Amino acid sequence: MIGVFDSGFGGLTVLASLRESLPQYDYLFLADSARAPYGARSFDVIYESTLESVEWLFDEGCTLVILACNTASTRALRNIQQIHLPARRPDRRVLGVVRPSVEALAGLPPGAVPGETPPSPATGLVAVLGTESTIASDSYRIELRKLAPSLELIQQACPLWVPLVEAGELDGPGTEWFLKRSLNPVLARQRLPQRLLLGCTHFPLLLPGIRRLVPPSVEIIVQGGIVASRLAAWMARHPDQEARIGRGGHCRFATTDDPAWFAARGERLLGQPLQAERIRLRPVR
Ligand code: DGL
Repeated sequence: MIGVFDSGFGGLTVLASLRESLPQYDYLFLADSARAPYGARSFDVIYESTLESVEWLFDEGCTLVILACNTASTRALRNIQQIHLPARRPDRRVLGVVRPSVEALAGLPPGAVPGETPPSPATGLVAVLGTESTIASDSYRIELRKLAPSLELIQQACPLWVPLVEAGELDGPGTEWFLKRSLNPVLARQRLPQRLLLGCTHFPLLLPGIRRLVPPSVEIIVQGGIVASRLAAWMARHPDQEARIGRGGHCRFATTDDPAWFAARGERLLGQPLQAERIRLRPVR
């Protein structure tokens, strides 16, 4: 199976795009809803929680795990890839969402390699919205500098957007107030960004309100489609890994909190009934 991990149910936005573009594969989605939101938690808590989740997905039979969560991708991916996998799981792979998103922000082809790929000639201004932790990590700036050094980046934390989504407050005057509060620093600048990346799995659920506030000249980038197209390109470059993934088109859903709550939120998001199971994560020693 392909494991898809998110702190909460927002990652279903990424899963939906994956299943639409790559319906042949088997998927196992895990939401660590009991500990969500991750966005304001410390590095250690995000790392440990992500690692436990990844290990659970491996134990269930996933050979490849996508960290759909930006917060987990920016805080935990590097250590998992560089330290945990080589020592404990050399035959498994974990991929994140920052790199594919930065490729899309810079208008580069999937899998662009710094040094081998000529730097993006793109100049101009782009923006990323994310959780406090994602923005504080500076990961988007670091990756963008490698691939498109002449692009200027605005990073804006949107601390209350995830709690709004988790509470089901997707639209209405209260939500609009919080959308404006985080969008205004980006939109009130003299120069508008050409592209605005929603760098959090929950933010696409606020898209109608965001679209009303963002001028049409600004392209809004949603991650689901990007991650799906980049994953298809990754599969083509890694046929050995691709061959290990089941092709029954099945999907399982797991959560660390109430499965009925998760299923109700997930059904609204995916527009189809779903069954979820509650699982318990164990510390990784
Ligand atoms: N899903 C996380 C992300 O994409 C945000 C939610 C959270 O704060 O847990 O960054």
